[in-house]
Amino acid sequence: MRAALWNRPVTTKPDGMGSGLLRRGAVWVRAVLLLAALPLGAAAQPVRSDTAPRERISIDAGWRFTKGDPADAPAVLLYDVRPELKAGEDGKAADARPQDAERLAAGRPVLKPWILPTGNDFLRNRAPYVRPAGEPVEGLSYLQAGFDDSGWRKVDLPHDWAIEGPFLTEGPYGGMGRLPSWGIGWYRKKLDIPASDRGRSIFLDVDGAMSYAAVWLNGHLVGGWPYGYNGWRVDLTPYVVPGGVNQLAIRLDNPPESARWYPGGGLYRSLWLTKTNPVHVGQWGGVVTTPQVSQQSATIDLTLSIDNESVAPAPVEATTAIYALDAAGNRIGRAVAAIASQRALVPARSKATLKGSTTLANPRLWGPPPTQQPNRYVAVSTIRQGGKVVDRFETRFGIRSIRFDPDKGVIVNGERIPLRGVNNHHDLGALGAAFNVRAAERQLEILREMGTNAIRMSHNPPAPELLELTDRMGFLVIDEMFDSWKQKKTALDFHLIFPDWHEQDLRAMLRRDRNHPSVFLWSIGNEVGEQYTGEEGTAVARELVGIAREEDATRPTMTAMNWAKADMPLPATVDVIALNYQGAGIRSLPGQFPAFRARFPDKVIFSSESASALSSRGEYQFPVPGTISGPVRPGVGGDPATRQVSAYELFASDFGTSADRSFAADDQAPYVAGEFVWSGFDYLGEPTPYYAARSSYSGIIDLAGFPKDRFYLYQARWRPELPMAHILPHWTWPGREGQVTPVHVISSADEAELFVNGKSQGRKKRAPFEYRFRWDYVTYEPGELRVVTWKNGKEWAAAEMKTAGAAARLDGKADRATIRADGRDLSFVTVRVADKDGLTAPRAGNRLRFTIEGPGEIVATDNGDPTSFEPFQSHERNAFNGLALAIVRARPGETGRILLHVAAEGLEGATVPIRSEARK
Ligand code: GAL
Repeated sequence: MRAALWNRPVTTKPDGMGSGLLRRGAVWVRAVLLLAALPLGAAAQPVRSDTAPRERISIDAGWRFTKGDPADAPAVLLYDVRPELKAGEDGKAADARPQDAERLAAGRPVLKPWILPTGNDFLRNRAPYVRPAGEPVEGLSYLQAGFDDSGWRKVDLPHDWAIEGPFLTEGPYGGMGRLPSWGIGWYRKKLDIPASDRGRSIFLDVDGAMSYAAVWLNGHLVGGWPYGYNGWRVDLTPYVVPGGVNQLAIRLDNPPESARWYPGGGLYRSLWLTKTNPVHVGQWGGVVTTPQVSQQSATIDLTLSIDNESVAPAPVEATTAIYALDAAGNRIGRAVAAIASQRALVPARSKATLKGSTTLANPRLWGPPPTQQPNRYVAVSTIRQGGKVVDRFETRFGIRSIRFDPDKGVIVNGERIPLRGVNNHHDLGALGAAFNVRAAERQLEILREMGTNAIRMSHNPPAPELLELTDRMGFLVIDEMFDSWKQKKTALDFHLIFPDWHEQDLRAMLRRDRNHPSVFLWSIGNEVGEQYTGEEGTAVARELVGIAREEDATRPTMTAMNWAKADMPLPATVDVIALNYQGAGIRSLPGQFPAFRARFPDKVIFSSESASALSSRGEYQFPVPGTISGPVRPGVGGDPATRQVSAYELFASDFGTSADRSFAADDQAPYVAGEFVWSGFDYLGEPTPYYAARSSYSGIIDLAGFPKDRFYLYQARWRPELPMAHILPHWTWPGREGQVTPVHVISSADEAELFVNGKSQGRKKRAPFEYRFRWDYVTYEPGELRVVTWKNGKEWAAAEMKTAGAAARLDGKADRATIRADGRDLSFVTVRVADKDGLTAPRAGNRLRFTIEGPGEIVATDNGDPTSFEPFQSHERNAFNGLALAIVRARPGETGRILLHVAAEGLEGATVPIRSEARK
């Protein structure tokens, strides 16, 4: 224990307007039930003294699921009336101007009045909602404990109901990924609430449900949450029957035309039961800030929000010990500091906050690798009521200082960290929206290899586990809330509920995520239509910024702007200037960095989206223009017949630029703090420019996780110390003999010489604002390309590319040869089609057949081809330009040797061994 500095006077107050428990919809009912269920004395003093005062129980296993409503469903099941869908608007340019919303009055009974009170704890700007008396729906078959759901599908969560397809190969569905994510779905599960839970508070914690969730327990509508990306809680306590049957039923209603990308559908993140004493730390109720940080010492301030759900005032005392965490997130050794005991009297059915502080000497700071380490701590608070332990609550955090310097950019713990970021959507390729820790970790590992140090969660709050990963691995994160405010981008997107829900949604994200050291910036919006509405839009921005400051005064705010100019009102409302594409210039518009710099000399400027370059991995198209950037046009960078975009990495969306051009714009504006490339990985949906495809072309890495050539452009720039050289295209072009076949080399070197079959094509120096070496007039002849590079006059890196022979065999490589037998851990197996000497056959599209032996399962396969409509669950798939992917997991609880076999007609097959272990 180093030091317990001060003991501020304890503040005890029912929280500000709207956040008091009294206003939560079910609380009165609940208090009555408690009284009825317990002897009066116990209700007044419901203290348990067991050693695990708080339980957080995963309830992901063993659900039943079906699509659609039952025949006896009344019309009232709709959350709210929705505008009628007009002709599909799929395929609009991403920077198309959003439109005014259509506003409808309900005019018929809907669920909304019962759902709105769920968000009451997050309302301060308006009065809380009161739950209407009675139930909106009585007797519906799916709500009954006795309903036979054995015919429904058995599923474990996280579950994405749309990822199995089938792909909608016809029609205007490209924007949302050509998978049937919209519609109604029901999930049912019986909860295990033993009689010993009598007197406890029982909450259902949902990490994300897509979307418009409504939760019933034992036939009672408990509440719900419309926005699919937020985490939320409903209080089950008034409706549980301890020791009895507790039938949970969750209905989701995911609208069509509700997103510009693939949202997925269903209970696609984890669900938890949280059981506490009536006096407990509230939802996301621990907040740590570190107002003073140096190498020598750090001040750690902790605020605990205590809920008293009992009918008597509760005298409470909190003590907190602080421990260091290891890289895996486990406590190391003894407490390193303590926060002295804090006391408060929490009024009945109300809240109180306890504040404490301590100083830690020689803190191990959190910062992004490679120059810093992502060290973390945990504050373990013990809450006592009348001397008995009623709660134990952990608040994880990191200690770091972040400064935004308009000239230098982002300064972490005194060191300038250039933002080398990417945008990522939430889908995990072939796994869809169903969150999987290992799949997300693999994405981060691939990005780290490229030199990425920052991620923008475009355009919505991520799974909580992803922020645990970014904390642990040391990425800087932009946490983003909305893709639209009041104005609409698609007919049924968030704009429909913005007026009712923006405050609850924004506060929920801020409270959930504000302890994560990786989160360094709050984004309140992306390219919102309010950029165009002058003062009206600015008022919305002001309200959102105000909310962010109330919930977390330690981080600045941004909204990503592709249209608002320096002299418009919107940019003035946010703390940091985040430009989408405008920095390099959009279409004929010149680059806007200088204008913003002149107007906002005190604000940091960076690109929240850069590039939007497009390509299909391994698809090289000829002729190759001599330009460095241009839009994809038929025959120039794109082939509408195959729906593939050239991999020469010179082409972009109409409003975007190649990586090279965006680098040049940044390098001419040294005050720019960095960039977030659109996008790190290809994602499902938004397949600009070919809306008949399934997935995007903008990823630096394809949907299967295979790097495109662009990967090396970023690696060379972001890891300049890494000796590397990369040649494109491949050199297997039967039929192109004698034709001009440009060769480009990407390297962190400054000079390079290319040889074709030993003949020099000339030595080149990279000029300022050039990011690749180009030999645009090479004549193709089979054989060998070789490049030698120099940096500062010294030999730096070399690379070779040889003409491959006919496909002869398969080669398989698992990213992890040992996985945990928990049914969740994954091994990603890359399959390569090779010639007899092991060289990749770069155009191979052989039909591959996957089979598995032992205690494992093939979860999905892919090949990164944006035009493939093969279901992701298929065990047969064509290679795409020589590569394919299989994702393997162990059957839960089954250990041993798994063998993945891959076969293709006429080729020698491959077998990949993977071990399934109880623990790893
Ligand atoms: C941006 C938008 C992104 C994505 C991208 C495609 O305008 O913010 O969500 O649509 O374009 O290049």
